[in-house]
Amino acid sequence: MRLVRLTSAYEFGSFDCGDDDLNEFLLEDAKKFLDKRIANTFILEDEGSVAAYFCLLNDKISRLEITNSRWRDIKDSFPESKQFRSYPSIKIGRFAVGNNYKGQHLGSKLMDIIKDIVNKECSYSAFRFLTVDAYLSAMNFYRQNGFLELNQKDKDEHTRLMYYDMLSLADRSTW
Ligand SMILES: CC(C)(COP(=O)(O)OP(=O)(O)OC[C@H]1O[C@@H](n2cnc3c(N)ncnc32)[C@H](O)[C@@H]1OP(=O)(O)O)[C@@H](O)C(=O)NCCC(=O)NCCS
Repeated sequence: MRLVRLTSAYEFGSFDCGDDDLNEFLLEDAKKFLDKRIANTFILEDEGSVAAYFCLLNDKISRLEITNSRWRDIKDSFPESKQFRSYPSIKIGRFAVGNNYKGQHLGSKLMDIIKDIVNKECSYSAFRFLTVDAYLSAMNFYRQNGFLELNQKDKDEHTRLMYYDMLSLADRSTW
């Protein structure tokens, strides 16, 4: 398998992760998002077919969006510094594993790759957290990969805002 960044010249085969919105995004919208600089898409290829994909874009964790207790947790991560109303993040805008590849820990391996890639690129623009609007059905997957909920109930009843602290990477003994 190999990870490639989507370009406007990229030619898709088919992709089915079992979710119409995520399938459609890749085939219909990902190139438009690239052109408009809204999100970059990365594709995990397996012998020419799409095994999985994800998108990345800039984000922030804002005081206004999360519970008081979680905001205290976040502020406590910066004990000596000035307090801000938001903290810089990178959002995983889309994340999907193809039906034929689910349940083999490919999603978790890909999540480790994302953490590794963005960690290596942090010398240009600083960020502390990864965020994701997790489908309720996928929350357990994100929890298993070190993400925590940012609030109890989101405006969108189908998703929950979750985050991962990049400083947790330093704690990983198997890294
Ligand atoms: C959610 C998804 C990315 C998981 O990918 P995957 O490669 O099957 O996940 P993994 O095999 O790495 O699973 C890691 C852990 O999360 C758990 N998990 C994975 N998907 C889960 C789900 N839908 N519900 C509950 N637990 C799940 C697994 O049981 C596994 O736990 P284990 O280590 O104790 O065995 C994949 O099922 C998918 O693309 N689903 C459709 C699209 C989607 O929901 N994307 C997320 C959008 S926010």
